[in-house]
Amino acid sequence: MSGLRLTVTDRGEDFDATGAAVIAEAIAGAPGAAIVVATGRTPMGAYARLARDLPARSASGLRVFQLDEYVGVTPDDPRSLAGWTRRSFVDPLGVDPDTVVWLDGLAEDLAAACRAYDDAVAAIGGLDLAVLGLGPNGHLGFNEPPSDPSSGTREVPLSDASIASNAAYRPELPVPRSALTAGLDVLLAARRVVLLVSGAGKAAIVHPALEGPVTPEVPASFLQRHPDVVVVVDRDAWES
Ligand code: PGA
Repeated sequence: MSGLRLTVTDRGEDFDATGAAVIAEAIAGAPGAAIVVATGRTPMGAYARLARDLPARSASGLRVFQLDEYVGVTPDDPRSLAGWTRRSFVDPLGVDPDTVVWLDGLAEDLAAACRAYDDAVAAIGGLDLAVLGLGPNGHLGFNEPPSDPSSGTREVPLSDASIASNAAYRPELPVPRSALTAGLDVLLAARRVVLLVSGAGKAAIVHPALEGPVTPEVPASFLQRHPDVVVVVDRDAWES
């Protein structure tokens, strides 16, 4: 685990505080950092702490990139990942939403929307930081297995595993069948990755991802080749 620094925490507050601290450390002194941020349940406590503890406006200059979005869902739909990114990170940290690079799952030409996203990443010189969760199937963003490390920003059909896990976010509404995701290529090129993993539901995937064979079947396993990854994992995930 050469480029990986691993911290195992207690569940809950310890996990959230450690996650917030590693994100805060990564953006400290880099007020204009380009940062892609995951939604999902895992990072919510860390984001709330960041918003509470960071000095006012110290994050407002961040250049935020959306990680993924369902196809065909409007930003005000309760399932929208843009809406979730905004409520959980962009607004609480005082980032101007007009400066965020969104993934447009409503675009008529989805491939062009993905190219525009990649162009925005390239224009800023690549991402400084990727804050990611780990899918139960080893996905990063919606880079579903199999995804090789050169996979670009694109539309992907969602796997049954992702549909099942994401159904829990909004049980009253169906999970869309496809999504746009930031490519594994731009995520792996981020200068630093913070990977947050919590809960017994991740126990079966976290060891293969961090210590198993590096394979497109477990997209997160490519992090093992990244030079600067900070992993925060709680005991429920690590020791179950
Ligand atoms: P979760 O989602 O944080 O809700 O577990 C992570 C993911 O599926 O990438």
